[in-house]
Amino acid sequence: MPKNILVTYYSQTGQLEEIMRNISRVFTNREEYEVTYYEIKLKEDFAFPWSPDVFYDTFPESYLQVPKELVPPAQEILNKKYDLVLFGYQVWFLTPSIPIISFLKSEFAEKLMANTPVITVSGTRNMWMLSQDKLKVHLKRLNAKLVGNIALVDRHDNYTSVITILNWMQTGKKEQPKPLPPAGIAQKEIDEAGKYGNIIIKYAERGTYEGMQKELVQSGAVEVRPFLIKVETVGNKLFTVFSGIIANSPEKRKFWVGVYKFYLMFAIWVVSPIVLFFYTLLTPFFYRKRQRQIEHYQGI
Ligand SMILES: Cc1cc2nc3c(=O)[nH]c(=O)nc-3n(C[C@H](O)[C@H](O)[C@H](O)COP(=O)(O)O)c2cc1C
Repeated sequence: MPKNILVTYYSQTGQLEEIMRNISRVFTNREEYEVTYYEIKLKEDFAFPWSPDVFYDTFPESYLQVPKELVPPAQEILNKKYDLVLFGYQVWFLTPSIPIISFLKSEFAEKLMANTPVITVSGTRNMWMLSQDKLKVHLKRLNAKLVGNIALVDRHDNYTSVITILNWMQTGKKEQPKPLPPAGIAQKEIDEAGKYGNIIIKYAERGTYEGMQKELVQSGAVEVRPFLIKVETVGNKLFTVFSGIIANSPEKRKFWVGVYKFYLMFAIWVVSPIVLFFYTLLTPFFYRKRQRQIEHYQGI
C-alpha cells in the first residue's frame, strides 16, 4: 500500500503553489507514495491584483480570523486517510490568511488532519512568527501533530520588502522598477525548495519525524530575526485595538480603515526605525531572551 501524502495550500500569485510543488516533487517521483494536491478555494475569492481599498479593508476580518465560505474539497480528497500533510499557508496582517482560516475552521480540516503528522510551510514577506503561534492553536484543536515547519521569506531588509510587496500586490508584477529587487521570496530559494522535500522523505520512510526540524533549520528552512518578533508583538496589540474599533463601528468603517492605513504606514516608516535603533542598542542586555525566542520559532 502506498503512503498517502496530502499537499494543501492557498496561493494568489502562485508563489506558494510553486514552493509546495517543489517540496513535494520528490514524493511524486516515487511509487511508494501517492500525492494528493488540494488547493483551498473560496466561493468568493479575493481578486488579484488587489485594489488598495480592498487590500486595507480586508484587515479587520483577517486579523479577527473571520472565515468565508469554502468550495468543498472533492470527495476523493476527503475519502483518503493521509500519512503526512504538507500544509502551505501565507500571512495576511500578522495572521494566517482568510482562506487558510476558513479551511481550518471548516469541517474538512479535522477530517483531513486529525491524528496526522503535519508540516507547515509558509511563504510570506517576513512576519510569520506570531501567525505560526496562532496556527498552532488551530492544529492543536484539530488534533493534528505538528512535526515540522518551513518558513520562506523575502530576505531583503524590512523596508525594501514593504515597498516591493505592496507594489506586487497592487500591480500583479513581481519584477520592480530599478533599483528595486523583484518582490517576494527569491526565485533561487523557491527553485531550491526541493531540498526540504529530500529531508522530509527520509523521515517519512523511517516513520518518525524525530530530529527532522533540526535538519530543516540547518539547511535554511527557518530564519528568525528577533527584531521582527518585537514588531509583530507591538503590531498585534495595536491591530487588536483597530480591528475591534472597525468591527464595532460599521457605519464609520471607511473612515477607520483609512486611519488604520495611515497608522500602518506611520508605524512602518517612522516608529519602527526608532524602535530598531533602541532594540539594537539593548542587544547585550536581552541576549538570552532573544536566543530563547529564536529557539522557540526555529522549533515546532
Ligand atoms: C492582504 C495581505 C496582507 C499581508 N500581510 C502580511 C503580513 O502581515 N506579513 C507578511 O510577512 N506577509 C504578508 N503578506 C504577504 C503574504 O504572506 C504572501 O507572501 C503573498 O501574499 C504571496 O503569497 P501567495 O501568492 O502565495 O498567496 C500579505 C499579503 C496580503 C495579500
